[in-house]
Amino acid sequence: MTDRYAIIGNPIAHSRSPEIHAAFARQTGEDLRYERLLAPLDGFGPAVAAFRAAGGRGLNVTLPFKGEACRLATEATPRARVAEAVNTLRFDGARVYGDNTDGVGLVRDLAANLGVAIAGRRILIVGAGGAARGVIEALLDARPVELVVVNRTGERAEALERQFPGGLRGMGFELLPRHGFDIVINASSAGLSGEAPPLPGSAFAAGAAAYDMVYGQGETPFLAFARRSGAARLADGLGMLVEQAAESFFVWRGVRPATAPVLAMLRA
Ligand code: ATR
Repeated sequence: MTDRYAIIGNPIAHSRSPEIHAAFARQTGEDLRYERLLAPLDGFGPAVAAFRAAGGRGLNVTLPFKGEACRLATEATPRARVAEAVNTLRFDGARVYGDNTDGVGLVRDLAANLGVAIAGRRILIVGAGGAARGVIEALLDARPVELVVVNRTGERAEALERQFPGGLRGMGFELLPRHGFDIVINASSAGLSGEAPPLPGSAFAAGAAAYDMVYGQGETPFLAFARRSGAARLADGLGMLVEQAAESFFVWRGVRPATAPVLAMLRA
């Protein structure tokens, strides 16, 4: 019988995850079906329970349910617990296994698809919400020389600094160091309101890479600002989406699909 998976969120209509997992399944010969599941904002738990009862084997979880998914898991991996967010659920009998593949997805996209080295580099993350928290540990594991989290509400960034003692510095925009950063990652949702976050152009070091965790039609406000500020490499989050999907696929199926052809297909 064909195994069933889905991406659950609200809204969900524009998710590209079904295309990605269908391509992975074709490529690896895995017998699975992957759907979109719209859950009511106040009905995540029942929607998951119904999907499981109907034989579902696993879920990807997206906004706004990643925190709830973490609480629903009976076992969560260390990287999911640190992120306090789960984007991958696997149903194993009575057990609900929760994982978070976002951080590894970002780091693989930077390293493998974009050729941007993290080790020894100065990294700036803009934003201190769930999207930022989900990628911090994986970035620290890649050994940057400096990791700064800057946020509109400085206290949220300071709280992250306390959560990762010795690993990063967190602050408001007014305290941002004056030197430039080699990699600037936008994990804020400023783009949703059509804005770039309030960064000075000097935040981009000569030859810097600018990475927007969001993807969509055309250049995002953050990437447009980065380009005007002299950033040499610009990337949106589509590669991260494909890489986190590949890691989820591995969590479910124990098979690692090739990501480059799928990313090329999505870009085409
Ligand atoms: P997510 O889970 O997507 O990270 P979130 O927890 O609501 O969502 O966090 C959104 C992030 O985007 C926050 O860091 C937020 O800054 P505040 O903590 O000050 O609210 C940031 N953000 C949203 N709109 C922004 C804007 N116009 N300029 C700068 N930062 C913005």
